[in-house]
Amino acid sequence: MEERRLFLKKSALTLITLSMPMVLSCKTGVTAATAKMNPKTPKKVVVFWYSQTGNTERAGRLIAETLKKQGLDVVASEYREMDPASVANFDMIVAGSPVYYYDVPANFKKWLRALPDIGGIPCAAYVTFGGTGGNQHNTACTLLELLADKGGVPAGMETFANMPTFAITWSYGNVDQVLKYKHLPNEKSYDKMRDFASLVLKRVGEGKPFEIDKEVDLRDLIKNTPSIWSTKLFISHHTIDADKCIECGTCIKKCPVGAIDLSKHHVDTDRCIACLGCVNNCPVQAVDMVFMGKEIYGYNEFVRRNGIQILVPEEFKKEIHQSIRL
Ligand SMILES: Cc1cc2nc3c(=O)[nH]c(=O)nc-3n(C[C@H](O)[C@H](O)[C@H](O)COP(=O)(O)O)c2cc1C
Repeated sequence: MEERRLFLKKSALTLITLSMPMVLSCKTGVTAATAKMNPKTPKKVVVFWYSQTGNTERAGRLIAETLKKQGLDVVASEYREMDPASVANFDMIVAGSPVYYYDVPANFKKWLRALPDIGGIPCAAYVTFGGTGGNQHNTACTLLELLADKGGVPAGMETFANMPTFAITWSYGNVDQVLKYKHLPNEKSYDKMRDFASLVLKRVGEGKPFEIDKEVDLRDLIKNTPSIWSTKLFISHHTIDADKCIECGTCIKKCPVGAIDLSKHHVDTDRCIACLGCVNNCPVQAVDMVFMGKEIYGYNEFVRRNGIQILVPEEFKKEIHQSIRL
């Protein structure tokens, strides 16, 4: 019995954390139909993203800043603060997502599917991912396809590496596996983001659509629901500790599926999609989550314990100085 339990534990861990480098890089040749793009100089651009721990947001803001410097009128926003109907009013769209469970998170997909017709508008997509990565290429393709499904014309795609934010990895003891990437994002990452923004703009100016080319990646077989389900299977406890909670509402703001009722310090675990947004962001470690007998501690706490300082792009350093002076 003990052996079976051990086997199950090992299998789950292998599936969740160690399967990250399982890349079988081979092009499928499956190409999304690319509509015609007329060369044009966009004026109004929207950059929107989904982000739980800041990586995708930082990339989105830097891309927006780079486009602004090129004279464009840019709106930059987290998707939850945007009216989806307004997206059709722009003449270029850039969307960003983290890779969660080898895919674009379901909550973000749902919002993208509710976008109005964006026929003919050039669109670009980027994803941020952790460590050696886990299906980041195909996830970026999926994000771009979602925009193309609404009539958007693909104009570019990119993936940006970060330190992984999957709190179960370090909480379960695999600290070194995560710390290998503590230097990310670095200056090179930020240059890649600036270059991406400029390249997309250039392609739109030239009227050159981008071809979406997915790879054969076995992780597509377990992306999203099966991976979320196998993670949830091993979460034995998920509540809010009323004694520690300072009722700041961060967990409610971060939870993309409305699973937290702070008045009762309760988490609806059926609704929860194991994004770890609550545990990763709680400023006082009041989210009580147990995975395979281990207490999970979040991203904020991991960063604090290991003295990690996330590099800020040059463009935002002035802003930070100004806000400190104010
Ligand atoms: C719940 C969860 C699942 C994740 N799954 C993957 C994954 O399948 N592949 C991957 O490369 N990174 C994965 N990551 C790492 C994140 O994609 C990465 O750290 C990302 O930059 C986080 O972006 P954010 O800070 O904007 O939320 C996962 C992180 C979390 C919290």
